[in-house]
Amino acid sequence: MKQFFLLSFFTSFLVTVTHGASNLVCYYDSSSYTREGLGKLLNPDLEIALQFCSHLVYGYMGLRGDNYQAYSLNENLDIYKHQFSEITAFKRKYPHLKVLLSVGGDRDIDAEHPNKYIELLEGEKVRQTGFIQSAYSLVKNYGFDGLDLAYQFPRNKPRKVHGELGAVWKSFKKLFTGDFIVDNNAALHKEQFTAFVRDVKDSLRADGFLLSLTVLPNVNSTWYFDIPALNGLVDFVNLAAFDFLTPERNPEEADYTAPLYELAAQNRLPHYNVDFQVQYWLQQGFPASKLNLGVASYGNAWKLSAESGLEGTPVVPNTEGPAPEGLQSQKAGLLSYPEICAKLSNPQNQYLKGNDSPLRRVSDPSKRYGNYAYRAVDGATTEGIWISYDDPDAASNKAAYVRAKNLGGVALFDLGYDDFRGQCTSDKYPILRSIKYRL
Ligand SMILES: *[C@@H]1O[C@H](CO)[C@@H](O)[C@H](O)[C@H]1NC(C)=O
Repeated sequence: MKQFFLLSFFTSFLVTVTHGASNLVCYYDSSSYTREGLGKLLNPDLEIALQFCSHLVYGYMGLRGDNYQAYSLNENLDIYKHQFSEITAFKRKYPHLKVLLSVGGDRDIDAEHPNKYIELLEGEKVRQTGFIQSAYSLVKNYGFDGLDLAYQFPRNKPRKVHGELGAVWKSFKKLFTGDFIVDNNAALHKEQFTAFVRDVKDSLRADGFLLSLTVLPNVNSTWYFDIPALNGLVDFVNLAAFDFLTPERNPEEADYTAPLYELAAQNRLPHYNVDFQVQYWLQQGFPASKLNLGVASYGNAWKLSAESGLEGTPVVPNTEGPAPEGLQSQKAGLLSYPEICAKLSNPQNQYLKGNDSPLRRVSDPSKRYGNYAYRAVDGATTEGIWISYDDPDAASNKAAYVRAKNLGGVALFDLGYDDFRGQCTSDKYPILRSIKYRL
């Protein structure tokens, strides 16, 4: 009896520890180090997150426009101020932690060479060897455990704002004009990308370095990722399944930016949701255990006009692009989680007026679409704002989805936008924690 009890205890223990979802991939964009004020994330605050993360993805390297070599986008910090070495040194204290160096993302903006990522693919071995050697050296010399390719591909065109009638006409016309095509050589680029990833993998193999891919928002996976072939080459894939709409891409309408499922009412696009993106990778035979679901710790904020109405129910019409930047985020249309939570009704702001008055939070009891918060325009004194975001509860719902689908885990974008100071409640990193507790 006692033995049986012990045996079943051990079996259930084993089942628990081997259960799928175990990755918590934390993106760390080191540009958060150089922000001013409360958004500045220094290493002692960063360290608090490391007990929760299985992987830290350090961003970002860029690609040199002239010779296609990988290089730090902030050499002063990363190399001369030793941030690379200081971050990888954390592995001594947190031995479970794997630290990867990431190339690309949305940081490597280069107006003079806007197509350099595609040029690197087209340049074949001549150009690629330089990239591969330089990326390998950075990983090796600074003690990283591997490389992440947050490769920049052409993005889908944002959906256009039009009436119902126009929509029908538009999709009819699309059949003939291929209006959604953003790259006429996508099939070739897909082949080239697979060959490129194979060579990158070869360069990392001898040292046992990891290789992961980050699929950036609004990239059509069908065009660029040969999923069965990539499966043999990468350790895991992080799907940035958010920013389906953004105030830059969709200035005239606001909607849920990272819903789990399609909200069929209204005229939404079927691929603007997490489940569509995940299912696509699974249907192509990619192992669920190697797929990590990306969750954003920031919100997208639109400016409302008087014509946007008082209701706030998405899809919100007649918006006017990005809301003003936050003091911490320092980017128009983007607010970090602590900035959002400070705008919701709380004892400090409940009697304030005008642009300091609190926002109304609308939660989602169905747990399918996410939250939003807004304040309608009020006369000439109060600006209107509408924010779509995942709070700790919504992030936890996504972790539950990950478990239900037996995915590998969650990838959080980015530690620097979570509440790392504990300004909302006194918990530091509330979004990261809520994901960790659910996985
Ligand atoms: C992605 O590409 C496939 C294949 O060309 C196409 O059928 C699909 O509509 C595209 N999706 C988007 C969002 O453009």
